Order: sequence, then C-alpha cells, then structure tokens
Amino acid sequence: MQRLFPHPADNITLLEAYSAERPGSAERPWVSLCMVSSLDGSTVVDHTSRGLSNPTDQALLLVLRSFADTILVGASTVRHENYGPPKAPHQRIAIVSRSGEFDFDLPLFTSGTAIVVLPENAPVVPVPSVRAGVDTVDVALAIRTLASEFGSRVIQAEGGATMNGMLASADLIDELNLTVSPQLSGGNGSRLIVGAPASAQRMRLAHVLEDDGFLFTRYLRAR
Ligand SMILES: NC(=O)c1ccc[n+]([C@@H]2O[C@H](COP(=O)([O-])OP(=O)(O)OC[C@H]3O[C@@H](n4cnc5c(N)ncnc54)[C@H](OP(=O)(O)O)[C@@H]3O)[C@@H](O)[C@H]2O)c1
Repeated sequence: MQRLFPHPADNITLLEAYSAERPGSAERPWVSLCMVSSLDGSTVVDHTSRGLSNPTDQALLLVLRSFADTILVGASTVRHENYGPPKAPHQRIAIVSRSGEFDFDLPLFTSGTAIVVLPENAPVVPVPSVRAGVDTVDVALAIRTLASEFGSRVIQAEGGATMNGMLASADLIDELNLTVSPQLSGGNGSRLIVGAPASAQRMRLAHVLEDDGFLFTRYLRAR
C-alpha cells in the first residue's frame, strides 16, 4: 500500500493511515461514512458491494470499525449484505428502518448488539430501538439519541445510498472514506447518495492511498 497524497510513501499500513482524532461536538457524535464505488459511480454489482471490493478494502472496513462504538446502516444493506453482529464486544449496530420488518431470529438480532432506528409511529420491535421523527426517521435526532441513550461518540456509517441521503440532507457527514474500485460497472446501481436535496457540502482531501489499482481516499467535511 502506497500513499500518494500527502507526503508520498511506501509500505503504509491501514492503521497508521486512518488513525486520527474523531472529535464529536457537544451536540452530537462524529459521523464517518465508509463506502466503495466503481469508476462510473455505482455502489453495487449484482445488488451488493462485494464485487467492488478487494481484501484491502475489506480490511479497511474492520480498521475503520475499530475506531467506532456504533455502526449505522440502512435496513436494505443489512438484508442484502447479511449483516452479522460486530466483532468488537463494545460495539452496537444501529439499523435505520421505516417498517421494522426483520428476521429477528438472525444472529445480528439475537446477539443483543442491534438497535433499530425507527419513526415514532413504526411497529414495536423485540430489540432495543431509538424512535425519532414521524413517518420518516429524523436522523439528526436519532444520532443525538444514540449518544444520550447508548453512549455513541464515534459513528461509522456504512450506507446504503438511501441512508447516506438522510445523513447528507442533515449535513451530518464529517468524514468520507471512499474506496474507488478500478472497474466500470455499468448497470443502474445507486451513486453514493440518493434522496438528498442538491447541495455543495465542501469536503477537504485528507489522503489518497493506492493498492492493486484501488484508490483509498479520505475526505473531511470543510465546515
Ligand atoms: N458500495 C458500498 O459501499 C455499499 C455500502 C452499503 C450498501 N451498499 C449496497 O446498497 C444497497 C442498499 O442501499 P439502499 O439505498 O437501497 O438502502 P439502505 O440505505 O441500505 O436502506 C434503506 C432502508 O432504509 C429505510 N428507509 C428508507 N427511507 C427511510 C426513511 N425516510 N425513514 C426511515 N427509514 C427509511 C427502509 O427500511 P425498511 O425497508 O426496513 O423500511 C429502507 O429499506 C444494497 O444493494 C447494498 O449492498 C453498497
């Protein structure tokens, strides 16, 4: 793995490249979004991100998770990517859903690590939940509630594009760790963010790494 920017260097490890302060504010936790995209901007191949990823990208996901106490993910991603419980004992997985419809016998839900994030008027679920908003999740309120009720300080958001759109709509993305996969995927896969109003949230490039033709970029929100 080489670093291309800043200060070009060889033999960089993921841990040293991505270790950084992730300071939440008094109002809310730090939110770091991790995604992989094809060169033509698709986030899926055959309905999952697997075909875009490589072993280094999979290792990166685990390194980034190690900095977080809470993983925030959309319900559709949990279903398509067969999410299991997190490996670190202190971590929780918060799943944004409108329906609250899941197979609650799956290990993710029986592990005691899942929190379902729902609108106030969604059905009752048999696992811990955060209620925020009516008909639709108010993700800013949900994140503040994750902090006050579950002690979240650093949130690792892992998509999909719909949930990312909710975060972007509320300008909650403090950090974007974007892997650019060296392929043209075609198809109609979503881009990183869908459903957010047009905006120009300026991001500052923090680093670019390269491994096997994959680019590992890190951007910080320039507030
Ligand atoms: N390339 C990558 O890095 C990457 C990362 C993650 C995911 N993905 C891929 O992206 C795809 C999933 O992305 P996606 O955009 O379709 O779905 P998503 O963001 O993972 O989840 C969407 C879900 O959020 C809930 N939802 C939608 N709008 C809502 C609202 N206003 N309030 C509350 N909940 C709401 C719904 O849950 P209910 O259905 O439970 O109501 C909906 O199914 C999968 O194919 C996955 O493999 C790729």
